[in-house]
Amino acid sequence: MAFISQDEINNIRSSVSIIDIVSSYIPLTQKGKNYFGVCPFHEDHSPSMSVSEERQIYKCFSCGAAGNVFTFVENYLNISFSEAVSLIAEKAGIRIKNNLRTTKEEKNKEEYTIMDLALKIYQNNLNAETGDKAIKYLNERNLNEIVRKDFDIGLSLDGNLLASLLIKKGYAETMLINLGLINKNGQIINDTFQNRIIFPIHDLEGKVIGFTARCYLNDIKPKYLNTKETYIFKKGNILYNYHRAKDSIRLKKEVILVEGNMDAIRMYANGIKNVIALMGTGITKEQVKSLKKLRAKIILMLDNDDAGETATYRIGNILEEEGLDIHIVRLNGAKDPDEYILKFKIDAIEENIKSAISFMDFKLNYLKKNKNLNSTVDLSEYIKSVIENLKNNNDEILKEVTLQKLSNDYNISYAVLKEQLKTEGKDKRKIIPDEQNKKRKSLYEKLVDEILYFMMNDKIYIKLYQTRLGIFPTKKERLIASEILYYYETHKNINIADFIAYAETTNVKKEIMDIIESVDIKDITESAMDELLKKLKKRIEDDEIKRLKEKLKNEFDPNKKIELAEKLVEIKKGSVESESY
Ligand code: GTP
Ligand code: MN
Repeated sequence: MAFISQDEINNIRSSVSIIDIVSSYIPLTQKGKNYFGVCPFHEDHSPSMSVSEERQIYKCFSCGAAGNVFTFVENYLNISFSEAVSLIAEKAGIRIKNNLRTTKEEKNKEEYTIMDLALKIYQNNLNAETGDKAIKYLNERNLNEIVRKDFDIGLSLDGNLLASLLIKKGYAETMLINLGLINKNGQIINDTFQNRIIFPIHDLEGKVIGFTARCYLNDIKPKYLNTKETYIFKKGNILYNYHRAKDSIRLKKEVILVEGNMDAIRMYANGIKNVIALMGTGITKEQVKSLKKLRAKIILMLDNDDAGETATYRIGNILEEEGLDIHIVRLNGAKDPDEYILKFKIDAIEENIKSAISFMDFKLNYLKKNKNLNSTVDLSEYIKSVIENLKNNNDEILKEVTLQKLSNDYNISYAVLKEQLKTEGKDKRKIIPDEQNKKRKSLYEKLVDEILYFMMNDKIYIKLYQTRLGIFPTKKERLIASEILYYYETHKNINIADFIAYAETTNVKKEIMDIIESVDIKDITESAMDELLKKLKKRIEDDEIKRLKEKLKNEFDPNKKIELAEKLVEIKKGSVESESY
């Protein structure tokens, strides 16, 4: 599969001006060398985002969002990085010949090939004679051939068929083990999934990264067996059916969130395409982030049991805190959307979706559970819990309406309720969440981040680093530095805007973007870099001296003592020399 090279990406980037592109989405005004606008990545009214013509990057001083023209479009339009590159190329009048694939996919190419191949083998098992019983099971569940094809459903057999086929193809055993496809016990190799219906799990872009496998011959535990966490399968990052649903979600500006993958399959197969499954009742930060990116209203439609109801409350609150618009459907007469559709047909569930209630109305009911509102104690607890819930809400009108309703329904003075909300809700939140989450960095980390930041900006800083320092003492920084050096070696040059595009393809993308977002230096000069390197060297030497002194204290062998003392003197001498450099 063809993919676009880093040089092509750089060419596209440098043939547009970030000012032109950004200002086609948000108004910018020029002040001195830079342009300023209201940041679209957090709630704001003042122009806290600056865009640099010279360096071709943007940065928000308030929420920290930063990047190049591609990341701006990626985040502004909620599209993938490669889609952003295509779009900018189009604007620049540059034609990309082949289907655009980023180099990121090239990175774990073999792994993805293996996963695709495994899926093909599972599908063959299902469609051959070996699949008769499974087909019968699937037909009984109303999963016909079309659905089986649409969702790439397959079948795992017992033993080690998959293992032997893949090993015969020349794939390394360890790779197959690492991908969670097979396991090895002593000398015995077995397939991980045996006698199970296989549902592939895709990442957000649609690549197969794992499987969820359901028993079907008899009821064994666990009902579903999932791929273990691997370096390409991070369960916390995925949302089932996301890649198929996302276009429909963007169009409808609405996403239906269900628990089970079967629920998602059933709804999708019946034409409700804007559906995503959580694969359980938990939700991770990463998943919330991906949902937020869809910029759609969320309809939570979890299972019709107590667990589903509690999860509705919990997940609803998490999503609400992120400022998302949440509506709730609680189904009656079936245990989950899958069963509901089979029993009452698709129109009935569409009616339910149309009449989804607001999350607040759900909470007003939910908080009443197990309470006797004729009891003064219960009633007062109930009112307090509602107010507790209101204080985290940003919708002033909703707050007002809810207080009015409480006041009417329970005959309590509106003024008292209002007063209670005021004292309860004294701005405990309202800090920009990103700021809140950012952990404090140590002085050392800041120093190293700043040096790396300089290196991303110009090769002169890389040269300074190479001649003065050469290597960082800690692993994380070494990894980032090696990406910078690799980029420099292969391009003989570096600038921050192009390096951001390259970062996209590395395993330390998050760390690199974190540096770009957190470092704030206007004065990018050789002398400033020199200062930073001096500080770091001093710091490394101080640490080393401390370590050696400690060792010296605990060393009893006189020869070794002398050796250590000599080392100490040498380091001290070195630091004197380097300071007078
Ligand atoms: P069916 O019985 O096939 O209809 O499953 P379901 O879609 O109704 O799933 P259920 O509501 O029981 O569970 C919701 C989701 O939780 C499933 O889609 C799975 O992703 C996950 N899940 C359910 N059971 C298990 C299990 O035993 N192990 C694991 N790891 N996950 C499970
Ligand atoms: Mn079910």
